[in-house]
Amino acid sequence: MKIVTEVKNHLYKNTKALCHFIYENEKPYWINEIHGRVGNTIKQIISNTEWKEGEIRIIETHGLILAEKVILIGLGLRKNLNSEKIRESTGKITREIQKMKLPEYTIVLPKESQEFARSIVEGAELSMYNFDKYKINQKITPILCILIHDKKINDIIIKTQKINNGVIFARDIANLPPNDCAPAKMAKFAKSIATSTLKCRVLTKDYLEKKKFNGIISVGMGSKNEPRLIVLEYNIKKNDRPIVVVGKAVTFDTGGISLKPSDKLDEMKFDKCGGCVVLGIMKAVSELKLPISLVGIIPSVENMPGGNSYRPGDIIKMYNEKMVEIINTDAEGRLILSDAISYGETKYSPKAIIDFATLTGACITALGTNVAGFTTNNDDFATKFKESSKRCNEEIWQLPLNNDYMDMIKSDVADIKNTGPKGAAGTITAAAFLFHSINKNTPWIHVDIAGTSWIQPSTKFRSYNSKGATGFGVRLTIDYLTNN
Ligand code: BES
Ligand code: MN
Ligand code: ZN
Repeated sequence: MKIVTEVKNHLYKNTKALCHFIYENEKPYWINEIHGRVGNTIKQIISNTEWKEGEIRIIETHGLILAEKVILIGLGLRKNLNSEKIRESTGKITREIQKMKLPEYTIVLPKESQEFARSIVEGAELSMYNFDKYKINQKITPILCILIHDKKINDIIIKTQKINNGVIFARDIANLPPNDCAPAKMAKFAKSIATSTLKCRVLTKDYLEKKKFNGIISVGMGSKNEPRLIVLEYNIKKNDRPIVVVGKAVTFDTGGISLKPSDKLDEMKFDKCGGCVVLGIMKAVSELKLPISLVGIIPSVENMPGGNSYRPGDIIKMYNEKMVEIINTDAEGRLILSDAISYGETKYSPKAIIDFATLTGACITALGTNVAGFTTNNDDFATKFKESSKRCNEEIWQLPLNNDYMDMIKSDVADIKNTGPKGAAGTITAAAFLFHSINKNTPWIHVDIAGTSWIQPSTKFRSYNSKGATGFGVRLTIDYLTNN
């Protein structure tokens, strides 16, 4: 989306729609600046409206000021304002603009806080996202002009657009149908963002076999589409301890031999969302040129039933040499992630590891579809991560992880098994499995994004999310990486 800024009095702005935020129980500072008939109408409407959060009024000016329309939107009480309200109401305005098919609109940045510029840009660009690659009629996106007071704001706007590009990149890939996005395609997208500071390596099946990435190899065996392990290195220097982000990219999860029922099976195209989030993070970090070193690791497979599939009962020696008994081939995510996490920890000796995965249906049962579940081995890391989550309103909730849960995945015939007891803390036993791949006590956060990665019937409506993938995790991680 094209976004421009201007330092200008709003009454002299020539635009199709001039948009203002208004607080409940307050007269806007500019109310006495507008005169004439349109001024009276606006004054009346302002007085007769409560301006609860999201209340919107569209007023025709009939040429009495330069703007053709004035759009007013309520924010609720000033003391309750937060960035989410600005993001949400900007999205709402922007959707109205698109409905009216206006080519451009103007939003007046409230004087009070710079933080709002970021939220406005997020609300505008992310609400306009639309997955229409496979449609003939594609909607047009209006141009946004933001009226600012200080040129310094431009920098915030440009940075936010780079982060949004990461979110949109993640959404665009996540939304692809499984016949158009197998593991090799994931690798292609990773290569497409490579630059001189962002190096991309793609490990293919023969190499993975040779190096005994048996978690990834086993899950990938049932599919004609061969697995990949994608590694993106940003700004890696010798003896530097980077942060490693890992993302599950199962391009389609049928469950394998432990076949899933057909109900909502199409949604399992979204089982690559963790990997897509990592791609979005890497793209944004490299465009922002953040002064950090970061590695993105994406194990990508297709989980299919077939003559060559791995089976329940199999025992696999993982990359980290632990022996795993397969109970259910539908618990595939933890197998590919475990290899990727072990590889990341041994190869890079990272400062910290974060992984994103649409790992368990149990996470939806526990927390619903607006909040992601997370587990950690390091509470200080978690505290900082939670602060980022608050700031960008990508909600997460911590689940416990202790030795009792570790015991639940002990196997009679191998070191561990790939599922815990049925119906008992499925999200945590999955995390307990992943925890086995952390062997050097590296601070680690695992985020289960099964509920938050795409819009499901129970998902709360947010104007800046549209049908399909949300890109959940990109803004959160970029916030963490920029503020710590
Ligand atoms: N990708 C699924 C988890 C999932 C299911 C995410 C529904 C979003 C919506 C994962 O691979 C899986 O199948 N997990 C199993 C684990 C079970 C076999 C222990 C599950 O959640 O049922
Ligand atoms: Mn599965
Ligand atoms: Zn899966």
